[in-house]
Amino acid sequence: MRGLVATIIAIVATVYYVPWNAYFEQKPEAAREMRDQIEMMFLASWRDYSKYGWGYDIYGPIDHSFRNMPRGGRPLGWIIVDSVDTLMLMYNSSALYKSEFEAEILKSQHWIDNVLDFDIDAEVNVFETTIRMLGGLLSAYHYSDQFEVGNKTIYLNKAIDLGDRLALAFKSTPKGIPYSSINLQSGRAIKNHVDGGASSTAEFTTLQMEFKYLAYLTGNNTYWKMVERVYEPLYKTNDLLNVYDGLVPIYTFPNTGRFGGFNIRFGSRGDSFYEYLLKQYLLTHETLYYDLYRQSMDGMKKHLLARSKPSFLSYIGEREQGLNGKFSSKMDHLVCFMGGLLASGATEGLPVHEARRKPFWDADRENDWNLAKELTNTCYQMYNQTPSGLAPEIVVFNEGETAPKSWWQSSLGDFFVKPLDKHNMQRPETVESIMFMYQLSHDKKYRKWGAEIASSFYDNTCVDCNDTKLRRFASLSDCITLPTKKANNMESFWLAETLKYLYILFLDDFDLTKVVFNTEAHPFPVLDKEVLKSQHLITGWSL
Ligand SMILES: *[C@@H]1O[C@H](CO)[C@@H](O)[C@H](O)[C@H]1NC(C)=O
Ligand SMILES: *[C@@H]1O[C@H](CO)[C@@H](O)[C@H](O)[C@H]1NC(C)=O
Ligand SMILES: *[C@@H]1O[C@H](CO)[C@@H](O)[C@H](O)[C@H]1NC(C)=O
Ligand SMILES: *[C@@H]1O[C@H](CO)[C@@H](O)[C@H](O)[C@H]1NC(C)=O
Repeated sequence: MRGLVATIIAIVATVYYVPWNAYFEQKPEAAREMRDQIEMMFLASWRDYSKYGWGYDIYGPIDHSFRNMPRGGRPLGWIIVDSVDTLMLMYNSSALYKSEFEAEILKSQHWIDNVLDFDIDAEVNVFETTIRMLGGLLSAYHYSDQFEVGNKTIYLNKAIDLGDRLALAFKSTPKGIPYSSINLQSGRAIKNHVDGGASSTAEFTTLQMEFKYLAYLTGNNTYWKMVERVYEPLYKTNDLLNVYDGLVPIYTFPNTGRFGGFNIRFGSRGDSFYEYLLKQYLLTHETLYYDLYRQSMDGMKKHLLARSKPSFLSYIGEREQGLNGKFSSKMDHLVCFMGGLLASGATEGLPVHEARRKPFWDADRENDWNLAKELTNTCYQMYNQTPSGLAPEIVVFNEGETAPKSWWQSSLGDFFVKPLDKHNMQRPETVESIMFMYQLSHDKKYRKWGAEIASSFYDNTCVDCNDTKLRRFASLSDCITLPTKKANNMESFWLAETLKYLYILFLDDFDLTKVVFNTEAHPFPVLDKEVLKSQHLITGWSL
């Protein structure tokens, strides 16, 4: 009873004071108070979803509407499975809401164990289901084990069931490159309905961490081999390193392994191809993948890197017509993961001052580190130079040419926003990079940036904000015009990624040498070399 009263007093107390002061006033307790605020935001969204949308995959926080991903069908667990490891992380460190987090973990686990059933007669996207559901179950297994909360076996059993259903997608083509979708019940693989049946290059090259970790946990090396098979046709059929300097067009025909079209970018459909090259190396110690990553980064610096006017912000542009085509200064917010990726590739998760003393440190890594700082600053500017303090989905950097009148120009002039690109889906990539830069440099500036962005999310994506019982958060259809226009949607990555990365930014001593995040921010432990060897989980191809 005492505990309950204390919890109620604590909740009432935190709800009424103006958030973020602690950080900006540099109080000694600032990091902890920031974590309290981020937990409060997470719980506001979570309680609202629990009350009005529990169990459904897609949720509209404005009118409390919901539906499942397979239309009219059974749920895939989209929001619950994606969020469990964030509940666990906050449970492990919470000062105010520990018992509430524990209760919510057990409630979610009960739902996963008793309601969630992947025997669903519907077509699902192989990539999204792998990164969110398989990734979420595997990291819940890992954190359940590490933080001693819940029953880890439940998560692993579900992961194996789902993994075996998704595995059938790899049998769909002779080269082992999966079609984009699969029916989870029948195992029938389904080609992409558009883009001439081509698969997105980043989609079938962003399944490897999940299935390699599953192989490690189960000792079943079929998972390992099937996800690795996609690389050989991709690199060899296209002569990827010589013809493309390691930069991939965003479509690939699954039956031949040939690229479809010429469009090269680090935004949607390209992004996580590069991410998983590095992360496989960090997770499994396979040096081939660091070498491939290195060549792609060199290619990016040669063909895609530019600086804006007037502030010389570094950014990664696009080559829509291939490497010899015209350069485009457009950049998706999605590209903002690159600061964090370059930084963790340079230091391998060590603080930079330690990494610089390691034998692996070289001029390329120093260059990557400096570029990581520049790109993270650019992405911060994409927030800092808008009226809401939140970034739009896509920007076009200023190259010194005049832009159409209908394009909005940022306060310092460095970028434009087209009328249809003004939305903000509460995406994680910028706070992800800010988190990595802080944890790897301990430069307090990054915590200040993260606090500003968290505060902008609080001020400008909140619905019924003054009512502590009704408060919740939504995407924006326009982040440029004040007051911001809300959109009736809450993406699962708001809970799975954005709030998780903001939270880790304010954790002290979070050890990034021990963990690798999948592309949906689900943490997997770095795998033990000796165990990998004893299970014959090794790289099965070379160039
Ligand atoms: C979990 O909590 C313990 C005890 O407070 C702490 O030492 C540890 O760093 C936390 N782990 C993570 C990953 O935050
Ligand atoms: C954990 O879950 C597994 C699988 O459902 C079950 O067999 C086991 O008894 C559970 N363990 C505990 C301690 O409840
Ligand atoms: C290993 O995984 C494959 C792919 O899902 C599956 O077909 C096979 O039955 C599994 N093997 C064992 C021993 O479980
Ligand atoms: C919410 O509260 C703040 C601070 O008390 C006040 O300035 C604002 O007008 C209130 N907003 C609404 C919609 O009531």
